[in-house]
Amino acid sequence: MAAISPVSRDSNLYWYKGFCFIKDMMSTEFIDSLKDFKIRDDDVFLITYPKSGTIWTQQILSLICSEGHRNGTEKIDTNDRVPWLEFRTINAYEDYNIRPSPRMFVSHLSETFVPRGLKNKKAKVIYVMRNPKDAMKSFYHFQDMAVLAEKSPDFQHFFEKFLDGEVFAGKWFDHIRGWYTHKDEYNILILKYEDMIKDLRSVVKQISTFLGIKLDDEAMDIVVKKASFNEMKKDPLANKENMPEDIIDNKSGSFMRKGQVGDWKNTLTVAQSELFDKLFQEKMGDLSLNFTWQIPE
Ligand code: A3P
Repeated sequence: MAAISPVSRDSNLYWYKGFCFIKDMMSTEFIDSLKDFKIRDDDVFLITYPKSGTIWTQQILSLICSEGHRNGTEKIDTNDRVPWLEFRTINAYEDYNIRPSPRMFVSHLSETFVPRGLKNKKAKVIYVMRNPKDAMKSFYHFQDMAVLAEKSPDFQHFFEKFLDGEVFAGKWFDHIRGWYTHKDEYNILILKYEDMIKDLRSVVKQISTFLGIKLDDEAMDIVVKKASFNEMKKDPLANKENMPEDIIDNKSGSFMRKGQVGDWKNTLTVAQSELFDKLFQEKMGDLSLNFTWQIPE
Protein backbone atom coordinates (compact mmCIF):
# COMPACT_ATOMS: atom_id res chain seq x y z
CA MET A 1 0.00 0.00 0.00
CA ALA A 2 1.33 3.46 -0.91
CA ALA A 3 2.32 5.69 1.98
CA ILE A 4 0.18 8.60 3.10
CA SER A 5 2.03 11.47 4.74
CA PRO A 6 0.54 14.65 6.15
CA VAL A 7 2.14 17.82 4.82
CA SER A 8 2.72 18.89 8.43
CA ARG A 9 1.43 17.89 11.86
CA ASP A 10 -1.75 19.98 11.83
CA SER A 11 -2.19 20.08 8.09
CA ASN A 12 -5.43 19.37 6.31
CA LEU A 13 -3.36 18.27 3.30
CA TYR A 14 -1.67 14.93 2.80
CA TRP A 15 0.69 13.49 0.22
CA TYR A 16 -0.39 10.35 -1.57
CA LYS A 17 1.42 8.92 -4.62
CA GLY A 18 3.01 12.29 -5.40
CA PHE A 19 -0.18 14.33 -5.20
CA CYS A 20 -1.40 16.57 -2.39
CA PHE A 21 -4.99 15.87 -1.32
CA ILE A 22 -7.39 17.57 1.10
CA LYS A 23 -8.01 15.27 4.06
CA ASP A 24 -11.57 16.38 4.78
CA MET A 25 -12.70 16.02 1.17
CA MET A 26 -11.11 12.91 -0.31
CA SER A 27 -10.11 9.50 1.01
CA THR A 28 -7.38 7.49 -0.67
CA GLU A 29 -9.85 4.62 -1.18
CA PHE A 30 -12.15 6.90 -3.13
CA ILE A 31 -9.28 8.38 -5.15
CA ASP A 32 -7.95 4.92 -6.00
CA SER A 33 -11.43 3.80 -7.03
CA LEU A 34 -11.53 6.47 -9.75
CA LYS A 35 -9.05 4.44 -11.82
CA ASP A 36 -11.88 2.00 -12.48
CA PHE A 37 -14.51 4.67 -13.13
CA LYS A 38 -16.32 3.44 -16.24
CA ILE A 39 -15.72 5.72 -19.18
CA ARG A 40 -18.09 6.17 -22.11
CA ASP A 41 -16.75 6.94 -25.57
CA ASP A 42 -18.51 10.31 -25.66
CA ASP A 43 -17.37 11.50 -22.22
CA VAL A 44 -15.49 14.79 -21.99
CA PHE A 45 -13.03 15.51 -19.17
CA LEU A 46 -11.81 19.01 -18.43
CA ILE A 47 -8.57 18.82 -16.46
CA THR A 48 -6.50 21.62 -14.95
CA TYR A 49 -4.00 22.45 -12.24
CA PRO A 50 -5.90 24.79 -9.85
CA LYS A 51 -6.26 28.44 -10.81
CA SER A 52 -5.55 27.87 -14.47
CA GLY A 53 -8.93 28.72 -15.99
CA THR A 54 -11.10 25.85 -14.75
CA ILE A 55 -14.37 27.69 -14.17
CA TRP A 56 -13.81 29.67 -17.37
CA THR A 57 -13.57 26.50 -19.44
CA GLN A 58 -16.46 24.91 -17.52
CA GLN A 59 -18.55 27.92 -18.56
CA ILE A 60 -17.40 27.64 -22.19
CA LEU A 61 -18.21 23.91 -22.31
CA SER A 62 -21.60 24.54 -20.81
CA LEU A 63 -22.33 27.33 -23.29
CA ILE A 64 -21.18 25.30 -26.29
CA CYS A 65 -23.09 22.18 -25.32
CA SER A 66 -26.31 23.70 -24.02
CA GLU A 67 -28.56 25.96 -26.01
CA GLY A 68 -30.50 26.61 -22.80
CA HIS A 69 -27.37 28.03 -21.21
CA ARG A 70 -26.69 30.18 -24.26
CA ASN A 71 -30.17 31.68 -24.44
CA GLY A 72 -30.54 31.97 -20.66
CA THR A 73 -33.61 29.72 -20.37
CA GLU A 74 -31.75 27.26 -18.12
CA LYS A 75 -30.18 28.41 -14.88
CA ILE A 76 -28.05 25.37 -14.20
CA ASP A 77 -24.89 25.64 -12.17
CA THR A 78 -21.86 24.74 -14.29
CA ASN A 79 -20.81 22.41 -11.45
CA ASP A 80 -23.97 20.42 -12.19
CA ARG A 81 -23.47 20.48 -15.93
CA VAL A 82 -19.75 19.74 -15.72
CA PRO A 83 -19.48 18.10 -12.26
CA TRP A 84 -16.30 17.38 -10.33
CA LEU A 85 -14.95 13.90 -10.62
CA GLU A 86 -13.14 13.98 -7.28
CA PHE A 87 -15.14 16.55 -5.24
CA ARG A 88 -18.50 14.87 -5.24
CA THR A 89 -19.67 16.69 -2.14
CA ILE A 90 -19.58 19.99 -4.06
CA ASN A 91 -22.06 18.71 -6.61
CA ALA A 92 -25.53 17.72 -5.67
CA TYR A 93 -24.42 14.09 -5.52
CA GLU A 94 -25.83 11.81 -8.10
CA ASP A 95 -24.82 8.50 -9.54
CA TYR A 96 -22.59 9.37 -12.49
CA ASN A 97 -23.30 5.97 -14.01
CA ILE A 98 -26.91 6.90 -14.66
CA ARG A 99 -26.12 10.39 -15.94
CA PRO A 100 -27.25 10.79 -19.56
CA SER A 101 -24.65 10.99 -22.32
CA PRO A 102 -22.71 12.90 -23.34
CA ARG A 103 -21.31 13.41 -19.86
CA MET A 104 -18.81 16.12 -18.97
CA PHE A 105 -16.56 16.15 -15.91
CA VAL A 106 -14.01 18.48 -14.42
CA SER A 107 -10.98 17.41 -12.42
CA HIS A 108 -7.72 18.66 -10.93
CA LEU A 109 -6.23 15.17 -10.82
CA SER A 110 -2.78 14.37 -12.12
CA GLU A 111 -2.36 12.00 -15.03
CA THR A 112 -1.60 9.10 -12.70
CA PHE A 113 -5.02 9.15 -11.00
CA VAL A 114 -7.54 9.58 -13.81
CA PRO A 115 -9.78 6.71 -14.98
CA ARG A 116 -7.82 4.16 -17.02
CA GLY A 117 -10.60 4.06 -19.60
CA LEU A 118 -9.53 7.50 -20.86
CA LYS A 119 -6.63 5.76 -22.53
CA ASN A 120 -9.06 4.18 -24.97
CA LYS A 121 -8.50 7.49 -26.78
CA LYS A 122 -12.18 7.79 -27.58
CA ALA A 123 -13.37 9.87 -24.64
CA LYS A 124 -12.03 13.42 -24.84
CA VAL A 125 -9.73 15.30 -22.49
CA ILE A 126 -9.33 19.06 -22.49
CA TYR A 127 -6.28 20.12 -20.49
CA VAL A 128 -5.90 23.82 -19.71
CA MET A 129 -2.61 25.22 -18.47
CA ARG A 130 -1.63 28.71 -17.34
CA ASN A 131 1.72 30.37 -16.81
CA PRO A 132 2.69 29.27 -13.31
CA LYS A 133 3.56 32.69 -11.93
CA ASP A 134 -0.01 33.87 -12.55
CA ALA A 135 -1.47 30.55 -11.38
CA MET A 136 0.57 30.91 -8.17
CA LYS A 137 -0.59 34.48 -7.58
CA SER A 138 -4.21 33.45 -8.21
CA PHE A 139 -3.80 30.49 -5.83
CA TYR A 140 -2.37 32.79 -3.14
CA HIS A 141 -5.53 34.91 -3.20
CA PHE A 142 -7.79 31.89 -3.50
CA GLN A 143 -6.60 30.70 -0.07
CA ASP A 144 -8.54 33.57 1.51
CA MET A 145 -11.82 32.15 0.27
CA ALA A 146 -11.04 28.42 0.33
CA VAL A 147 -12.30 27.56 3.82
CA LEU A 148 -10.20 24.40 4.18
CA ALA A 149 -6.97 25.96 2.87
CA GLU A 150 -4.14 26.87 5.20
CA LYS A 151 -3.63 30.60 5.10
CA SER A 152 -0.18 31.96 4.35
CA PRO A 153 0.73 35.05 6.38
CA ASP A 154 2.51 36.59 3.39
CA PHE A 155 3.37 35.88 -0.23
CA GLN A 156 6.91 34.60 0.51
CA HIS A 157 5.41 31.91 2.73
CA PHE A 158 3.00 30.89 -0.03
CA PHE A 159 5.75 31.06 -2.67
CA GLU A 160 7.75 28.44 -0.74
CA LYS A 161 4.68 26.26 -0.21
CA PHE A 162 3.82 26.43 -3.90
CA LEU A 163 7.34 25.43 -4.94
CA ASP A 164 7.29 22.53 -2.47
CA GLY A 165 3.86 21.50 -3.78
CA GLU A 166 2.32 21.89 -0.32
CA VAL A 167 -0.98 23.06 -1.77
CA PHE A 168 -3.94 21.08 -3.07
CA ALA A 169 -2.87 19.24 -6.29
CA GLY A 170 0.82 19.27 -5.35
CA LYS A 171 3.59 20.63 -7.52
CA TRP A 172 2.62 22.60 -10.62
CA PHE A 173 5.72 21.22 -12.39
CA ASP A 174 4.65 17.60 -11.79
CA HIS A 175 1.07 18.18 -12.92
CA ILE A 176 2.07 19.82 -16.18
CA ARG A 177 4.92 17.40 -16.88
CA GLY A 178 2.71 14.38 -16.20
CA TRP A 179 -0.03 15.44 -18.55
CA TYR A 180 2.25 16.89 -21.18
CA THR A 181 4.58 13.91 -21.45
CA HIS A 182 1.66 11.44 -21.58
CA LYS A 183 -0.48 13.48 -23.95
CA ASP A 184 -0.11 11.01 -26.82
CA GLU A 185 -1.89 8.37 -24.77
CA TYR A 186 -5.10 10.43 -24.73
CA ASN A 187 -7.55 12.01 -27.14
CA ILE A 188 -6.54 15.39 -25.81
CA LEU A 189 -6.82 19.07 -26.61
CA ILE A 190 -4.25 21.16 -24.76
CA LEU A 191 -5.14 24.80 -24.27
CA LYS A 192 -3.43 27.75 -22.67
CA TYR A 193 -5.17 30.35 -20.52
CA GLU A 194 -3.15 33.12 -22.17
CA ASP A 195 -4.39 32.08 -25.64
CA MET A 196 -7.94 32.32 -24.31
CA ILE A 197 -7.19 35.87 -23.16
CA LYS A 198 -5.57 36.77 -26.50
CA ASP A 199 -8.26 35.35 -28.77
CA LEU A 200 -11.21 33.73 -27.00
CA ARG A 201 -13.18 33.22 -30.18
CA SER A 202 -10.45 31.08 -31.74
CA VAL A 203 -10.20 28.94 -28.62
CA VAL A 204 -13.99 28.50 -28.46
CA LYS A 205 -13.84 27.37 -32.10
CA GLN A 206 -11.04 24.93 -31.28
CA ILE A 207 -13.09 23.48 -28.41
CA SER A 208 -16.29 23.17 -30.41
CA THR A 209 -14.43 21.53 -33.29
CA PHE A 210 -12.80 19.08 -30.86
CA LEU A 211 -16.23 18.25 -29.45
CA GLY A 212 -17.71 17.88 -32.93
CA ILE A 213 -20.30 20.60 -32.28
CA LYS A 214 -20.96 23.13 -35.00
CA LEU A 215 -22.01 26.58 -33.81
CA ASP A 216 -23.35 29.19 -36.20
CA ASP A 217 -22.01 32.75 -35.98
CA GLU A 218 -24.82 33.92 -33.73
CA ALA A 219 -24.30 31.08 -31.24
CA MET A 220 -20.56 31.69 -31.35
CA ASP A 221 -21.08 35.39 -30.55
CA ILE A 222 -23.17 34.47 -27.51
CA VAL A 223 -20.63 31.95 -26.22
CA VAL A 224 -17.78 34.45 -26.54
CA LYS A 225 -19.81 37.21 -24.86
CA LYS A 226 -21.08 35.07 -21.97
CA ALA A 227 -17.60 33.65 -21.38
CA SER A 228 -16.04 37.10 -21.09
CA PHE A 229 -14.61 38.11 -17.71
CA ASN A 230 -17.13 40.89 -17.12
CA GLU A 231 -20.18 38.80 -18.03
CA MET A 232 -19.02 35.93 -15.85
CA LYS A 233 -18.24 38.22 -12.93
CA LYS A 234 -21.76 39.58 -12.84
CA ASP A 235 -23.36 36.12 -13.17
CA PRO A 236 -23.54 34.54 -9.67
CA LEU A 237 -23.65 31.04 -11.16
CA ALA A 238 -20.58 31.57 -13.36
CA ASN A 239 -18.77 33.24 -10.44
CA LYS A 240 -19.61 30.26 -8.21
CA GLU A 241 -21.34 32.36 -5.59
CA ASN A 242 -23.57 29.41 -4.74
CA MET A 243 -20.79 27.08 -3.56
CA PRO A 244 -21.31 25.50 -0.11
CA GLU A 245 -20.26 27.92 2.63
CA ASP A 246 -18.15 25.30 4.38
CA ILE A 247 -16.00 25.11 1.23
CA ILE A 248 -16.00 28.61 -0.27
CA ASP A 249 -16.31 31.87 1.67
CA ASN A 250 -17.56 34.29 -0.96
CA LYS A 251 -17.22 37.24 1.41
CA SER A 252 -13.43 36.85 1.41
CA GLY A 253 -12.79 36.92 -2.32
CA SER A 254 -14.10 36.07 -5.74
CA PHE A 255 -13.33 33.35 -8.27
CA MET A 256 -13.45 36.09 -10.90
CA ARG A 257 -10.63 38.13 -9.36
CA LYS A 258 -8.64 39.93 -12.07
CA GLY A 259 -8.43 37.59 -15.05
CA GLN A 260 -5.18 39.00 -16.40
CA VAL A 261 -1.91 37.80 -17.84
CA GLY A 262 1.12 39.15 -15.97
CA ASP A 263 -0.53 40.07 -12.66
CA TRP A 264 2.33 38.16 -10.99
CA LYS A 265 4.50 41.22 -11.71
CA ASN A 266 2.57 43.16 -9.07
CA THR A 267 3.53 40.66 -6.38
CA LEU A 268 6.63 38.57 -7.10
CA THR A 269 9.89 40.29 -6.20
CA VAL A 270 12.73 40.25 -8.73
CA ALA A 271 14.49 37.65 -6.57
CA GLN A 272 11.40 35.40 -6.42
CA SER A 273 10.87 35.74 -10.15
CA GLU A 274 14.50 34.90 -10.95
CA LEU A 275 14.47 31.90 -8.64
CA PHE A 276 11.27 30.72 -10.28
CA ASP A 277 12.78 31.15 -13.78
CA LYS A 278 15.78 29.09 -12.75
CA LEU A 279 13.60 26.28 -11.39
CA PHE A 280 11.37 26.45 -14.44
CA GLN A 281 14.40 26.01 -16.68
CA GLU A 282 15.72 23.10 -14.60
CA LYS A 283 12.42 21.26 -14.37
CA MET A 284 10.73 22.07 -17.66
CA GLY A 285 13.61 23.04 -19.96
CA ASP A 286 13.57 19.69 -21.77
CA LEU A 287 9.89 20.09 -22.77
CA SER A 288 8.91 22.11 -25.79
CA LEU A 289 6.54 24.20 -23.71
CA ASN A 290 6.31 27.97 -23.97
CA PHE A 291 4.21 30.24 -21.83
CA THR A 292 3.15 33.84 -22.28
CA TRP A 293 4.29 35.58 -19.09
CA GLN A 294 2.81 38.95 -19.92
CA ILE A 295 0.97 40.68 -22.73
CA PRO A 296 2.16 44.16 -23.67
CA GLU A 297 -0.50 46.87 -23.08
P1 A3P B 1 -7.13 35.44 -11.23
O1 A3P B 1 -7.19 35.04 -9.79
O2 A3P B 1 -5.72 35.67 -11.71
O3 A3P B 1 -8.02 36.57 -11.54
P2 A3P B 1 -9.79 28.50 -11.72
O4 A3P B 1 -11.13 28.54 -12.32
O5 A3P B 1 -8.92 27.41 -12.28
O6 A3P B 1 -9.88 28.48 -10.23
O7 A3P B 1 -9.02 29.83 -12.16
C1 A3P B 1 -9.43 31.07 -11.64
C2 A3P B 1 -8.73 32.13 -12.43
O8 A3P B 1 -9.30 32.20 -13.76
C3 A3P B 1 -8.89 33.51 -11.80
O9 A3P B 1 -7.67 34.21 -12.09
C4 A3P B 1 -10.07 34.07 -12.60
O10 A3P B 1 -10.17 35.47 -12.58
C5 A3P B 1 -9.73 33.54 -14.00
N1 A3P B 1 -10.89 33.56 -14.89
C6 A3P B 1 -12.08 32.96 -14.74
N2 A3P B 1 -12.91 33.28 -15.74
C7 A3P B 1 -12.23 34.12 -16.56
C8 A3P B 1 -12.55 34.83 -17.76
N3 A3P B 1 -13.75 34.76 -18.32
N4 A3P B 1 -11.58 35.59 -18.32
C9 A3P B 1 -10.36 35.68 -17.77
N5 A3P B 1 -10.00 35.05 -16.62
C10 A3P B 1 -10.93 34.28 -16.02
